[in-house]
Amino acid sequence: MRVLQNDRFLRAIKRQPVDRTPVWMMRQAGRYLPEYRASRAKAGDFMSLCRNPELCCEVTLQPLDRYPGLDTAILFSDILTVPDAMGLGLRFVEGEGPMFDRPVRDEAAIAALPIPDPEVELRYVMDAVRTIRAALGERCPLIGFAGSPWTLATYMVEGQGGQEFSRIKRMRFEAPQLLDQLLEKLVQATTLYLDAQAAAGADTLMIFDTWGGVLDHAGYRRFSLEPMQRIVTALKARHPTVPVMLFTKNGGQQLEAMAATGCDALGLDWTTDLGEARTRVGSKVALQGNLDPLCLLATPEVIRAEVESVLASYGPGPGHIFNLGHGITPQVHPDHAGAMIQAVVELSPRYHHS
Ligand code: CP3
Repeated sequence: MRVLQNDRFLRAIKRQPVDRTPVWMMRQAGRYLPEYRASRAKAGDFMSLCRNPELCCEVTLQPLDRYPGLDTAILFSDILTVPDAMGLGLRFVEGEGPMFDRPVRDEAAIAALPIPDPEVELRYVMDAVRTIRAALGERCPLIGFAGSPWTLATYMVEGQGGQEFSRIKRMRFEAPQLLDQLLEKLVQATTLYLDAQAAAGADTLMIFDTWGGVLDHAGYRRFSLEPMQRIVTALKARHPTVPVMLFTKNGGQQLEAMAATGCDALGLDWTTDLGEARTRVGSKVALQGNLDPLCLLATPEVIRAEVESVLASYGPGPGHIFNLGHGITPQVHPDHAGAMIQAVVELSPRYHHS
C-alpha cells in the first residue's frame, strides 16, 4: 500500500473522516492556465502533448504547483486515445473539437475494430501514468480515467463534435444489436485500458460518461449504464482496493442505478441538488461535485458564496469531494479557480468537526 502525505481525496471516496473537504477540478490542467498553453506550444499540438510522457507529467503537476489546496492529480490525456488506438484517426481541429478520419458506421467496420493492447498502442499513456506517479511520490493520489463506452461510441459513430447525435441515435433505435456489438468492443478495450492504468500506478479510476444524459431512460440503462457496470465489475475483481468513480453528465435521474453498480463514487453536474442526491444514495457511494463551472466567471466574492452553498447542500460529515460539475472552461481567470479552492480550504473544516 502506498502511504500518501495527502490522502484526503482517497479517504473521502471511502467515506472516511477528513479534516476538510478535498477539492480538485475537472480539466484542472487545461487552457485557462498560461503555463499549460506554453507546454502545449512546446509540444506543437494537443495530441503531441498527450504522446509525450514528460510533457504530460509537466502539465499534470502545473495546477498542483499553482494551487497548494488541490488534493489530487489527474492523468493528463484524453478519452479519445482509445478510439484513436482502434484505428479511427483522431484529429483536433482548432475551434471545432475532435474529429475522426474513419468513423465507424456499419457492421463490417465494427467487426474489424481491434482491441488495443494498452502496453503497445497506448503505451504512451501508460508511460505518462508511470512518469507522473514517480514525480508525485507521496504527495497526493493520481486519478486515471477513460470515457464510457457509450460516450466513446457517440464520437466514433458521429465522427466529430458531440453536439449532434442523429447517427448514433438512429443506430440506437434502428440497429440496437449493432450498437451492442460496438459497445461490447469498447467494454473490452476500456477494461484493459483502466486495468493497465491501475497497474501503472493510478490510485483511483474515473469513467467519464459525458453523453449518457442524452439517452432516453431505457436507452441509458442498456447502452450507457450496463456497459459501465461490466467495466466496474471487472475492475473490482482485478483491483479490489482501487476506487472507481462514475460521472454521467445530466445523469441526475439515474443515481440509484449508478450507485448499485458497485462503484465507490458518483460525479454530479450542477443540475442535481447534492443534498437530495445524498439522501437518495445513502452511504453507498461518495459524491463529487458540483459547482457550475461558469460560476468561475463571476467575482471571487460570488464564487466564495456559491462554494458555501455547495458545501451546505451536501451538509456535514464525510463522503463529499468538492469539484466543478463539468470541466473548467478556457475563459476562466486562474485567480478565480484559486478563489474557489481557497474557499473550500477555509469554509469546509466546519463540516467535518463532529
Ligand atoms: O486535467 C484533466 O482533467 C485531465 C485531462 C483531460 C482532458 N480531456 C484534456 C483535454 C480529461 C480528463 C479529458 C476528458 C475528456 N475528453 C472528456 C470527458 C470529460 C468532459 O469534459 O466531458 C471528453 C468528452 C473529451 C473529448 C474532448 N477532448 C473534447 C470534446 C475536446 C475538445 C473540446 C475542448 O474542451 O477543448 C478535447 C480536447 C482536450 N482534452 C483539451 C484538454 C486540455 C483541450 C485541447 C487543447 O489544449 O487544445
